[in-house]
Amino acid sequence: MSYETVRVETLGSVGLVTLDRPAARNALSRQLIAELNAALDGFEADPAIGAIVLTGSDKAFAAGADIAEMKGLGLVDVFENDFVAAWERLAAVRKPVVAAVAGYALGGGCELALMCDLVIAAETARFGQPELSLALIPGAGATQRLAKSVGKAKTMDMVLTGRLIDAAEAERIGLVSRVVPAAALRDTALAVGAKIAALSRPAALMAKEAVNRAFESGLADGIRYERRLFQALFATRDKEEGLAAFLEKRPPRFENR
Ligand code: CAA
Repeated sequence: MSYETVRVETLGSVGLVTLDRPAARNALSRQLIAELNAALDGFEADPAIGAIVLTGSDKAFAAGADIAEMKGLGLVDVFENDFVAAWERLAAVRKPVVAAVAGYALGGGCELALMCDLVIAAETARFGQPELSLALIPGAGATQRLAKSVGKAKTMDMVLTGRLIDAAEAERIGLVSRVVPAAALRDTALAVGAKIAALSRPAALMAKEAVNRAFESGLADGIRYERRLFQALFATRDKEEGLAAFLEKRPPRFENR
């Protein structure tokens, strides 16, 4: 597939997708989402890939849904096409996904970051949910994922006032995992991706699935789910290798089996 609005690279065991619509601050057009999803499908299917990094430009991770494309659409248009449903492909990716955010992550851009497993922010990152200024509300999950990740107070502040928060505040409230200088963003995110990709694949995927379960279930169900996945990993060869390597004081050699 040839891409026009994203760049897709394989760097060792890490798949890198760079949103690349600079003239529109990486606004999330239908084409961009389709290309992002194709890239994600490719990396999911590729056994050589153990983690994915999603990034944008220095100016913008993504400025949200494409406002020009939404103009003129009516209820029946967006209902029939189930507008925004396709964006959920990112949330359904089973391999760990690291977002590397510099510049604006607004509206749907912030929501894409929220679908990733770890968000690494440059000091230049700005997060916001400005949809109300367009007489809309967030449509790609922020009222739910932001509330579950940073709580009601900050979510209401961001959604109702549209206030942009900087990287330091985003880290303080738990929206991002780490903040790094802008010049170090790409290398840090790729190093984190490589570190995750070097783990035993079934263990990494089950860890992601178990943590995500916390957002969907009560505590007792979630704990039982975690315990079953933990027990399931005793069926892998990698578990024996991981334990043996520790005891023999050597690096493990995982087979992802
Ligand atoms: N959709 C379409 N085009 C966009 C866009 C968007 N979301 N954001 C920026 N652009 C375009 C601008 O129209 C402009 O195009 P022209 O050069 O042709 O005029 C170009 O990108 C550059 O934009 P600016 O001149 O505004 O650049 P800036 O650096 O001064 O500001 C910005 C950057 C703060 C991101 C500003 O562009 C902005 O506020 N964008 C809109 C953000 C927004 O409201 N996002 C929410 C969208 S709704 C949504 O996402 C719904 C959902 O939850 C699913």
